[in-house]
Amino acid sequence: MTTEPLFSIAIQRNTPMVTITFEGQRMIVPEGINVAAALLTGGARDFRSSIVGQAPRAPYCMMGVCFECLVEIDGIPGRQSCLIQVRDGMQIKRQLGASALEGESVGEYHE
Ligand code: FES
Repeated sequence: MTTEPLFSIAIQRNTPMVTITFEGQRMIVPEGINVAAALLTGGARDFRSSIVGQAPRAPYCMMGVCFECLVEIDGIPGRQSCLIQVRDGMQIKRQLGASALEGESVGEYHE
């Protein structure tokens, strides 16, 4: 189940804009906001799939606590989109399941 965001962003005339892509779709969004807000402004509602069940997930806290906003930015998975400022040319993709740490494959378990 998806829900509408609980906030909105007022875009004033003459606000500088940047161009990003999300899942290959071009979005023109305000400069200086975080990636999560930019994607929500652009209409994205499905940022990642959960590790168990692959359910669609989207930002919840917008302050770096819940990790529901994970996306892949410019080829780097597991980025918290609510903590990263959007910049022109970013290529963003949905985070699919767990992301591997460097030198580790997904699904590997260490004690
Ligand atoms: S929305 Fe909660 S950590 Fe980003």
